Amino acid sequence: MSSALLECKELSKSFEKNGVTVDVLKGVNFSVGVGETVALLGSSGAGKSTLLHVLGTLEPPTSGSIHFMGKNLSQFRGEKLANFRNREIGFVFQFHYLLQEFTALENVLMPALIAGASKDEFRKRAEQLLVEVGLKDRLHHRPAELSGGEQQRVALARAMVMNPRLLLADEPTGNLDSANAHMVKDLFLHLSAHKGVSVLFVTHDEEMAKDMTRKVVMKDGQIVLDSAL
Ligand SMILES: Nc1ncnc2c1ncn2[C@@H]1O[C@H](COP(=O)(O)OP(=O)(O)O)[C@@H](O)[C@H]1O
Ligand SMILES: [Mg+2]
Repeated sequence: MSSALLECKELSKSFEKNGVTVDVLKGVNFSVGVGETVALLGSSGAGKSTLLHVLGTLEPPTSGSIHFMGKNLSQFRGEKLANFRNREIGFVFQFHYLLQEFTALENVLMPALIAGASKDEFRKRAEQLLVEVGLKDRLHHRPAELSGGEQQRVALARAMVMNPRLLLADEPTGNLDSANAHMVKDLFLHLSAHKGVSVLFVTHDEEMAKDMTRKVVMKDGQIVLDSAL
């Protein structure tokens, strides 16, 4: 069994809406091991995106704890938290959020530039990642000149540029046809196998879960199934 990279205990998240409290996460206990690839399934509204946002420190939990490599993330605030997130966690969303004015290579470099790293230092790494996701001939294309599958592969390369330990993916194949969806999913698995990055992959599609190491199902703010594959 792999050691835990990320572990959350009794994680809860509530939102206030028009004076009413909506409990979205209701005591989630969950962990992701080093190098694991976890499919997170569940119907719409189950709380999958909220769980990803909270685990990714984009939003604070209402209660409960998150440990990353044994460190309690509630200790991190402000710039320290932003730096942690930028370096350790890569995000891929359903929509690629690439910057239209920039090339594929420039988009992949963006997290490094935000971190204040020199462009030269990361340029080679960004290029290698784009080669690895099959875009050797698309380095200088802009998003509008790429297909949906290619755009999502650029987003995946961008998520990997800081060499994160964890990739959080929220329905990254949700807008793709089946062939492209499988290709993007296989690239996540490839990157995990070759770079040791752990993957938490939200999907509606049971098919996508097949090649992952674990399947977790959420329902109504709780985990109702957690099994090795
Ligand atoms: N910022 C928010 N404010 C109020 N309610 C929210 C907010 N974000 C999510 N919710 C509610 O939480 C529930 C779960 O949403 P979400 O995490 O997006 O589920 P999923 O990704 O599984 O479809 C939904 O009922 C949604 O309306
Ligand atoms: Mg969602």
